[in-house]
Amino acid sequence: MTRKYVVIKPLIAGNWKMYKTSQEGVKLVGTIKAGVHSVDDCDIVICPPFTLLSTINPLLDGTRIALGAQNMYVEKEGAFTGEISPLMLKDLGCRYVILGHSERRQYFGETDSLINKKVIAALTFSLIPIVCVGETLPERESGKAKETVKAQAEGALAGLSAEQFEKLIVAYEPVWAIGTGKTASSGEAQEMHEWIRALLAERAGKEIAAKIRILYGGSVKPENISGIMAQPDVNGALVGGACLKAESFIQIIRGAKKKELTC
Ligand code: PGA
Repeated sequence: MTRKYVVIKPLIAGNWKMYKTSQEGVKLVGTIKAGVHSVDDCDIVICPPFTLLSTINPLLDGTRIALGAQNMYVEKEGAFTGEISPLMLKDLGCRYVILGHSERRQYFGETDSLINKKVIAALTFSLIPIVCVGETLPERESGKAKETVKAQAEGALAGLSAEQFEKLIVAYEPVWAIGTGKTASSGEAQEMHEWIRALLAERAGKEIAAKIRILYGGSVKPENISGIMAQPDVNGALVGGACLKAESFIQIIRGAKKKELTC
């Protein structure tokens, strides 16, 4: 069957995780800025830790790099010691927020239902959520990868309107590929991305689903970005380890070109 794919401008997001002091972060941003100033065929997002958002925000003025956060709480304000609200992220210039990352699920007990509340809160404050889903190795090995991803996507995106679907980004990050150096093969990535797009189509309709960006994440490097991006349902990447070095992040951004596809 021939399927016409909508070509969506790729997006490369760098998840700094819990790395970089302010001095290191400022240096990294400076080098990235210099390396990508002529790139206009790819949207770029960096997600430093909360501690660096206010320092980095002004450094991105006049650049094509947008600011994102790695997490947030669901309330606008209140007695929630240690948490950060969507209003605070907006105030610091964030346009994006990563939600439901597997490290949040694994180490901080985040459930699909909490992630769902976060997605709704982010959209309410006009933040673009990058909603992460992905199976563990045992889930893949026992043939439950698609089932797991389906439950996560349906749970995290419950109750959204078609209009809200249009504003979000999904990131498929197989847990076994995160920080391990193992990447899903291009074929494995495409198969899961196609599955996620079909799930999105059930909820938001085919036309909207065709336009939703689905990023791949898990050991993305300069060496594998073009193979991943060549897959028709891959619209960009969420990069961890390789975004902490300016050169590799710049090379990934430059390698993220998307061609016109009819498969
Ligand atoms: P990685 O991390 O690129 O280091 O595998 C990706 C992520 O956790 O978003």
